[in-house]
Amino acid sequence: MRHVELKDGADLDGFRRALRGLVALDVEPDAVVWSGGATPSLFGDTAPLPADAPPVPLPRPVGALIESVVCHRDPERYALLHRLVRRVVRGERDILDHHADPLIHRLALLDKAVRRDLHKMHAFLRFREVRDPANSEDRGGERYVAWFEPDHFIVEATAPFFVERFESLVWTILTPVGSLHWDRRSLTVGPAALRPEGLDRDDRFAEGWQRYYESTFNPARVNPTAMRAEMPRKYWANLPEAAAIPAMIRSAPARVQAMIEAEAAAPRRRNPDKAVAAMARQEPATLAELNRIIRAADPLVPGATQAVLGEGPEEAAIAIVGEQPGDQEDMEGRPFVGPAGQLLDRALEEAGIERSAAYLTNAVKHFKFVARGKRRLHQSPTAGEVKHYRWWLMKELAFVRPRLVVTLGATAALALSGRSVSVLRERGPMGFGDWEGFVTVHPSYLLRLPAGEEAEQAYRDFVADLRRAREVVEGAG
Ligand code: URA
Repeated sequence: MRHVELKDGADLDGFRRALRGLVALDVEPDAVVWSGGATPSLFGDTAPLPADAPPVPLPRPVGALIESVVCHRDPERYALLHRLVRRVVRGERDILDHHADPLIHRLALLDKAVRRDLHKMHAFLRFREVRDPANSEDRGGERYVAWFEPDHFIVEATAPFFVERFESLVWTILTPVGSLHWDRRSLTVGPAALRPEGLDRDDRFAEGWQRYYESTFNPARVNPTAMRAEMPRKYWANLPEAAAIPAMIRSAPARVQAMIEAEAAAPRRRNPDKAVAAMARQEPATLAELNRIIRAADPLVPGATQAVLGEGPEEAAIAIVGEQPGDQEDMEGRPFVGPAGQLLDRALEEAGIERSAAYLTNAVKHFKFVARGKRRLHQSPTAGEVKHYRWWLMKELAFVRPRLVVTLGATAALALSGRSVSVLRERGPMGFGDWEGFVTVHPSYLLRLPAGEEAEQAYRDFVADLRRAREVVEGAG
């Protein structure tokens, strides 16, 4: 009997090394006992495996299966994988296609369990902000810590996901089977940890998650049994948004009715659900991170030079949402710098709102146009396009958390309210779910009016709206 001792957890390198030796010596799987570092060997010393055995060439899917299955907790995982590899090197190159084969069936179950665990950790791990005096470099000791209890040894396997997603933060992930530390430059893999004290305390980050969950919660799809299966109670303790679940389930029937009514009123356009779902898989932790995602994304309708991001202080009391960047905004990469922006600036000033104290953004982040010779003529976004970008807008607002969201024109009102709004008839205060809102006209509507008394009155009304909006904010202050 040959004893192979590997490190505790998922020892992929150790397993590969051992495998080379075992294959080189043509050792039968039944003649090998595998153990993790914590399990003492009962077999005394056996002859060491050759250290210089050549790599075992394996089909790519077999390699991928090995990487996954070594993360499983099953103590037999290495023995099963050894059996698999031995059959492959003996000629069964397409062995993974034989789903009814008991070995393949069992390995497929292990693989599925690991993948499911990875998905849970990606989806349900939540960072909490803690003060860390050791990290005083540039963010006043800001560090994010998360506690998670995976079912399998997946901590290292999840590292690339979290590094990519939260590259700009200093964070630590603690689990009972290992830990990860990221300092914005390098990753350190550490030992198992105990659940840290005090992580349950509410913080801004947790609140952000709760708001996000509430705003993306679809009451029409409420199925408490399925919710529990997808988001098992085990994870609830770590999920700030879980606090919102009971109330949302209670209010679901009323919200479904409201959605049906809104849907009936909204224009019918193509359904961009796939793209929305792809975006929703991205979970930025900061506005800067969200902006990176927006900047990296392709325009839904090709042609735009760049994504135009929101601009203004992150703690602005008032957010102003326009339709989409125009020609000049597209060139400069800043919102409201063209003719409509200049008119808006003038009106804001007259209304007593400082532009630099407000957060200005757009419902749609890319310029959509038709080319006419050298000119690029603005085209309004469709409802489907507005829906596509809505996820970003909602995330953006969740980070800024303004006291009032002012929508300019019908597109912004549609993005915030989820229904078509008749701006001239409904202008004024309007609730937008999580946000107190205020509907008014778009400055480009004013620019299109023929010069004369009507246009001047429309401008005065616009300024009066902005003044009222300011008063709402000051009243709420
Ligand atoms: N119109 C908008 O709606 N937004 C801009 O940024 C510019 C013009």
